[in-house]
Amino acid sequence: MTISIIGTGYVGLVTGACFAEAGHTVICVDCDASKVATLQKGGVPIYEPGLEELLVRNTASGRLRFTTSTEEGVANSQVIFIAVPTPSLADGGVDLSFIEGVAREIAGCLTGYRIVVDKSTVPVKTAEKVAETIKRYSKGKADFDVVSNPEFLREGFAVEDLQHPDRVVIGVSSERPVAAMREIYAPFQAPIIVTDTNSAELIKHASNSFLALKISYANALSIVCEATGANVQEVVRGMGMDERIGNRFLNAGLGFGGSCFPKDLSAFIRISEELGYDFRLLKEVQHINSDQMARFVRKLASILWVLKYKRIGVLGLAFKQNTDDVRMSPAIELCQRLIQQGATLRVYDPQAMEKAKALLPENDKTTYVAHMDDVPAGCDALVIATEWPQFTKLDLVRAREEMRTPIILDGRNLLERPSVESHGFLYHGVGR
Ligand code: UGA
Repeated sequence: MTISIIGTGYVGLVTGACFAEAGHTVICVDCDASKVATLQKGGVPIYEPGLEELLVRNTASGRLRFTTSTEEGVANSQVIFIAVPTPSLADGGVDLSFIEGVAREIAGCLTGYRIVVDKSTVPVKTAEKVAETIKRYSKGKADFDVVSNPEFLREGFAVEDLQHPDRVVIGVSSERPVAAMREIYAPFQAPIIVTDTNSAELIKHASNSFLALKISYANALSIVCEATGANVQEVVRGMGMDERIGNRFLNAGLGFGGSCFPKDLSAFIRISEELGYDFRLLKEVQHINSDQMARFVRKLASILWVLKYKRIGVLGLAFKQNTDDVRMSPAIELCQRLIQQGATLRVYDPQAMEKAKALLPENDKTTYVAHMDDVPAGCDALVIATEWPQFTKLDLVRAREEMRTPIILDGRNLLERPSVESHGFLYHGVGR
């Protein structure tokens, strides 16, 4: 199949690389000329495990190429995927101007029948709007179908998720594009759900919101666990063994962040409101999430008595492990709150330090440290803010020696309490 993908962000680039790896011929289009030049030269603009090899192998084989020209992409492909950003608006709604712009561009270059697939996360009814836009701007001449094909990949595991999806959702308004969509996904051997476009779009909203709800549920449980001396990890382990519940996305901690859950939740609440439904359940999910961060800062403040002039080591800046993405990162929010309260920071992340500097400038308040084991030096407390597995290998003997006071607050319940305490630390996790 010949495919073009418009937008080379996390979703577009990984999708393009995986489709090429599966044997399709793929053109990735992006309006950012410097990004396209980097990709053409073999550079990778994001950190995503496994992605670089796929890009190298498939550009070398000629199955994957990059361009700034939408026209070139549209002319040379049977199926066009839209994977452009859909950022939040100040009122919680979604900015669809990139999607609309791409739809107009596609309308301007359609020559024969094409399938236009929306892969960006969008509000329900967007596929209908995209179809209307293409029809209008091609003055009714274009022959096309619009498909909604939401993406469920997680950053940091994007290649794995894309190559081994739990399911593929294909939302259509006619039978015509179904065979081609099945052919694209056949190499991935996943269950395929064919449905209408509105249901496909709602599957995405509903899935992300439900996962966020699971996390907030675990975080709410963590408060009850702390109050009773129970251990939230034991509680969710016991719950998760019930197949109806499942054990994933029940880790209590600093709360969820990233470019998806916070934005998608707000958008779903907003859309529901517009449809006349006050989705209070999801508002509470948001509330628990922001409260979790505030509680954590209060806990640290109460242990240290006063935060002003305290030096805090922070391990982790990315919004989760395996990524350099710091958008809406709870770790960055935590750092900002600590600085507001007068603390100074020594921070480290295995991948995200460069990107973090834009949000958390390097200055007399914040020192970026090149090695994890150099972070604790001179600190009054050490905080784990991102669930990078390598933080479990922290040299606790050296940390105890070099810290002013040996205190660890583990915002991701990553370390084993007995081991940390046996090294002479005061240790607090979340809900245990
Ligand atoms: C999320 C969904 O998991 C994907 O299925 C979806 O495709 C994607 O959004 C999207 O809409 O594009 P992502 O934002 O990459 O993926 O990251 P997640 O792995 O879902 O983690 C989100 C946040 O939740 C992170 O801050 C993570 O630390 C936090 N989290 C996750 C918890 O606090 N506890 C958990 O048990 C799991």
